Amino acid sequence: MHHIFIDVAKIDMQEHLPIITDFWEQVLFQTGDYKKNVMKLHVELNEKVQLSPENFQTWLATFQNTVDAHFLGENSEKAKTRALSIATIMQIKLQGF
Ligand code: HEM
Repeated sequence: MHHIFIDVAKIDMQEHLPIITDFWEQVLFQTGDYKKNVMKLHVELNEKVQLSPENFQTWLATFQNTVDAHFLGENSEKAKTRALSIATIMQIKLQGF
């Protein structure tokens, strides 16, 4: 799946990291600055390269493993639950329902 980040989106981690920090700060603590439409962004990405159910499984497993490797507690459970629900809604939106 790394080609989606590297070849398609040509992601620059220096730029990306503060954005996802804002996003998760907003999701978990409502204190982040994130204002963009994350669904729309992935709909546009999906038009360039179709995101498969396997991609979502990989994304979720990576997210869950990373949270578990670094955090323990109520908010880490909240982060994993929110990631699963956002990923589920995202997949439904990408299917065009
Ligand atoms: C198959 C699963 C996924 C893939 C392959 C994927 C891939 C990407 C890529 C390539 C970008 C960069 C887009 C760009 O800057 O042009 C991005 C941005 C982002 N993604 Fe995902 N994503 C996935 C799922 C998710 C999920 C489930 C979430 C949330 C729980 C999420 C949250 C974000 C956020 C916050 C950004 C930053 C958006 C911004 O720049 O404002 N992604 N994603």
